[in-house]
Amino acid sequence: MLAIELRKKYLAFFRQKKHAIMSSASLLPENDPTVLFTTAGMHPLVPYLLGQPHPQGKRLANCQKCIRTTDIDEVGDPTHLTFFEMLGNWSLGDYWKEEAITWSYEFLTSKKWLGFNPEKLSVTVFEGDDNAPRDDESVKIWMTLNIPEERIFALPREDNWWGPAGATGPCGPCTEMFIEVDTVPKCGANCRPGCGCGHYFEVWNDVFMQYNKMADGTYELLEKKNVDTGMGLERTIAMLQGKSTIYEIELVAPLVEKVIEFTGEESLTDEDIRLIRTIVDHVRSAVMIMADDRRISPSNVEQGYIVRRLLRKSIHSADRLGIQQGFMKDLAQIVIEMYRSVYDEVERNRDFIMQNLEAEEAKFRKTLGKALRKFDRILNETGTITGSDAFLLFTSFGLPLEMTRDLAEEKGIKIDMKEFRKEFEQHRAISRTATEGKFKGGLADHSEEITKLHTATHLLQAALRKVLGDRVSQTGSNITKERLRFDFAFDRKLTPEEVQQVEDLVNNVIAGNMEITQTFMMFDEAISQGALAFFKETYGKTVSVYRAGDFSVELCGGPHVEHTGVLGHFKIAKQKKIGAGIIRIRAILD
Ligand code: SER
Repeated sequence: MLAIELRKKYLAFFRQKKHAIMSSASLLPENDPTVLFTTAGMHPLVPYLLGQPHPQGKRLANCQKCIRTTDIDEVGDPTHLTFFEMLGNWSLGDYWKEEAITWSYEFLTSKKWLGFNPEKLSVTVFEGDDNAPRDDESVKIWMTLNIPEERIFALPREDNWWGPAGATGPCGPCTEMFIEVDTVPKCGANCRPGCGCGHYFEVWNDVFMQYNKMADGTYELLEKKNVDTGMGLERTIAMLQGKSTIYEIELVAPLVEKVIEFTGEESLTDEDIRLIRTIVDHVRSAVMIMADDRRISPSNVEQGYIVRRLLRKSIHSADRLGIQQGFMKDLAQIVIEMYRSVYDEVERNRDFIMQNLEAEEAKFRKTLGKALRKFDRILNETGTITGSDAFLLFTSFGLPLEMTRDLAEEKGIKIDMKEFRKEFEQHRAISRTATEGKFKGGLADHSEEITKLHTATHLLQAALRKVLGDRVSQTGSNITKERLRFDFAFDRKLTPEEVQQVEDLVNNVIAGNMEITQTFMMFDEAISQGALAFFKETYGKTVSVYRAGDFSVELCGGPHVEHTGVLGHFKIAKQKKIGAGIIRIRAILD
């Protein structure tokens, strides 16, 4: 069976079970500032999963385009791609576990539908923890469908709990379905679904949404229980075609073949295969993101930054395989041909995609050329690459640390990360002193009052984005001992209800006494984790990230309080429109 047939069959099956069929939402979330991309079919449905009535009813199904940058490190294994399609069906307060599991089983095993051998099907359920009990209900249902106990695995939260898609929202235990791959032997006596060896191949996940995760990290029972299922299109096709990896199916294999052709190699090492798969995955995802009508170009912010990172990593991987400039456009043509009949926007934005691929490659090669020459010079002169060399390549030549590390490893050199971090800290200290004057406009001093108001500013910003949407972005901030002042881009003042909502959100976080943590990471990593950054940054730079639980994640130099509980009570004292599209809020802690 081909993907085109699977999409049709899945939707036909659920239409028969009285589901309304929706079209795929955009890859770029419309109203959710907590994530950069649509990561699952449930994501655009969050308001409805939280209780808002859906115009198409209580039973829905679709095929959704998804991007998961969190899976980037797993790209190259048998089952992960950063761009994939998810077939999903939903019950909004309608059917529950029995129907969901029975229908999943029917669709997978019935000869009329996919016809998988039921004996090759294994499932997992949530084993229970302090927040929620073991999912015995699902175990019973699977047993009535004749799945024997030895093929039902109870796994912990990290495997069998889903959501929320962002920092807060609907979530719950899940039951996942795996097909056993005969050609991949079990990895040992403890081989089990989710172990990652490739013997058990995950195809479908039924999530039972019973809870709403709150901003303070607690779970509330949802008034209406929902079902959210997601079947991986590429994975299921791989299993139906008797393959053992997603790289062999018709949506991916032509790209793999093209890259192999570019390498001109007859025999490939494991490392070559990893690089080829990285190129294929990353170009595919970048093309699909750029295909969106919102027209995201490679840049240094938000989604554009992810596109840049994907493309630059592909170029670097291609270089290592000896592939010449211009390869991305050939790959993009293949991706466009594959998807243009399914997603119109791919064709509509063809020229935009091609122009951006060309421009980004030229730009990066210019930087890369200089950086690589410097790398070689250091190596020739000193015989090694130290942590501080890596730091220099990083700050002055824009060479991402990850690439320096790869290049050094090729020469058998291990970069001293401690030294790298030490340099970074020193650099931070110097730039802090040098820019001390600048703080006067923002943070006047590091007193207790100012520090508290600074943390409150982060919470305010996160709350504003949750209430007003991701159009909100900081344009200025000024803190004195008495009050904070926060300017942001927005077209109107807040209504009294919105002011109340923002205050409540912030005060909830204060009441939850959340820990504020500081971590250092690469800029791109921070951005892919959803950190807010309202200033221009350089590719490859290490940054400091402050986090208040899952509520607020921001790039910032600090300082901040350790726990939100010490802030007291947050109140918006005044707001005014200070110019075209800029709103100023003054707030206090009392
Ligand atoms: N949201 C769940 C997942 O992504 C089921 O759709 O796996």
